[in-house]
Amino acid sequence: MIVTSALPYVYSIPHLGNFVGSVLPADVYSKYLKMKGDDVIFICGSDQHGTPIELAAVKKGIEPEQLANEMHETVKKLFEKYECTFTYYGKTHTQENREVTYNVFNELYNNGYILEREDMQAYCNVDKRYLTDRFIQGTCPYCKKRSARGDQCDNCGRLLEPTQIIEPFCAICGKSDIKFLKTKNLALELNKLEGNVKEFIKKNSKHEWSKDAINKSLSMIKEELKPRDITRNMKWGFPVPLAGYENSVVYVWFDAVLGYIGITQEWDARRWRDYWQNEHTQLVQFLGKDNTIFHTIMWPAMLIGSKLGFVLPYTIKESQFLVSKKLKFSKSQGVGLNMKSALEFLGPDYWRFALMYMYPENADSEFTQESLVEVVNTVLNDKIGNLAQRVLKLAKSNKELINKDIKVSGEERISKILDKYRDSFDKLQLKKAVGAVVELADLGNEIMSKKEPWILAKKAKENVAHAKEFTEIFDSLIAITYSLAIALYPFTPKASKELLRYFSIKSEPTLKLLSDPVNLDFSAEPKPLFQKMTNKDEKLRKYE
Ligand code: 2FM
Ligand code: ZN
Repeated sequence: MIVTSALPYVYSIPHLGNFVGSVLPADVYSKYLKMKGDDVIFICGSDQHGTPIELAAVKKGIEPEQLANEMHETVKKLFEKYECTFTYYGKTHTQENREVTYNVFNELYNNGYILEREDMQAYCNVDKRYLTDRFIQGTCPYCKKRSARGDQCDNCGRLLEPTQIIEPFCAICGKSDIKFLKTKNLALELNKLEGNVKEFIKKNSKHEWSKDAINKSLSMIKEELKPRDITRNMKWGFPVPLAGYENSVVYVWFDAVLGYIGITQEWDARRWRDYWQNEHTQLVQFLGKDNTIFHTIMWPAMLIGSKLGFVLPYTIKESQFLVSKKLKFSKSQGVGLNMKSALEFLGPDYWRFALMYMYPENADSEFTQESLVEVVNTVLNDKIGNLAQRVLKLAKSNKELINKDIKVSGEERISKILDKYRDSFDKLQLKKAVGAVVELADLGNEIMSKKEPWILAKKAKENVAHAKEFTEIFDSLIAITYSLAIALYPFTPKASKELLRYFSIKSEPTLKLLSDPVNLDFSAEPKPLFQKMTNKDEKLRKYE
């Protein structure tokens, strides 16, 4: 199995909405698959090409390649800080990716899917440059929202050509002093591949695709696919491998999607084929809704048209947007609550859990200060952390009353929740999986408050019945805490490992451990797993 996350652009630090849109859920899911023992590689990396990075480099007076590589290192380290465990986090501006890109490009050309055409490209008279992709904006001809950019509409997700945009303006200077100049470009003849793409969507969308991804893709196909430019009149990128196009580069999206393959080659020059050219591989792709059409139409068309035998996406797991009305959350402005500044006041486990709790799985969700504090204080700290600490403390101080052969499988209510946890993950319903974790904690808290085992413990010395009851209750409470320690791993890997030490486990957790007898280690004093957030207003206010 290959799990991928959309490759983030690295012209600035990804914000929390970018993180929860693809890298985080992909990491959570791949951690689950690893716990299950599946043969899985988790591939991601920096999308280094595109106009914004070229522009940012020009402003800094350095080469785009230098900036792209520096930013790549920064972003890579950040993901590591958030406990993301990629099989490989690579980048797109590499020799490997250049070869894959040229290979696919040449095959598409030889197979008759690339058209040479003259078309009109926007040019800003003020900035004196071509306005490629996101540098031309305006109103979308389809949904009529003012969210159209050169290559797509951010609102309805449709692919666009710059000439289709209504009332276009330059994103750099904001003016409408634009002219369209005739230029020569190469286009991918999506029209010739329409039947294949349609068949692919019909067949593979049965595999837990997000509904919105299916609808958007089918409605795009219904309107007929048109040839789509795959070259750009700019400097930064892979030069077009065809005579007559010396001043153009390959369109950023072309080599970005192929980056999944290029990065896997960078990981292992031989083993990449075992995954990418193997008909049994399931390719599960996580991405934000603004990336969908590129993955469900353009990328499959490229793969099919190249006839190189690469696997097609098996599952497209799209996320909606995490938005914030009050807090600054913008990547293009390079300010605000991003992955770097967020770590200044909360650790990675907190963010991972809180963001997955708010995961915009099927609808946009709103990130607020209040919702963050609520998740951290009430769910993580009170429900989960406190429960675990209280159970472990009571067990330690009443060792003689704890059974030696506690097994999760003996507990029906716990097993049911764990079935739900596994089932949700297997169906890629990640919010339900978070819900199952919280349900486990709820069950433990319910037992605690109903049975008040600390009172039973006090009376246990004189009363055998109380002692017996305590022992029984602790069969459940220990099984719950142990299950929690394992189930938390994809969401809060640090806390999970910390908790597992009380159960004599120092290795990476697996789901198989849930069938093993619990082996408590009473040597260490149980410490709080999480802390409440204080000073919340102060810390977040500066991002308003
Ligand atoms: O939206 C983005 O950040 C794009 N760089 C995603 C690319 S996904 C894939 F094609 F690499
Ligand atoms: Zn639109």
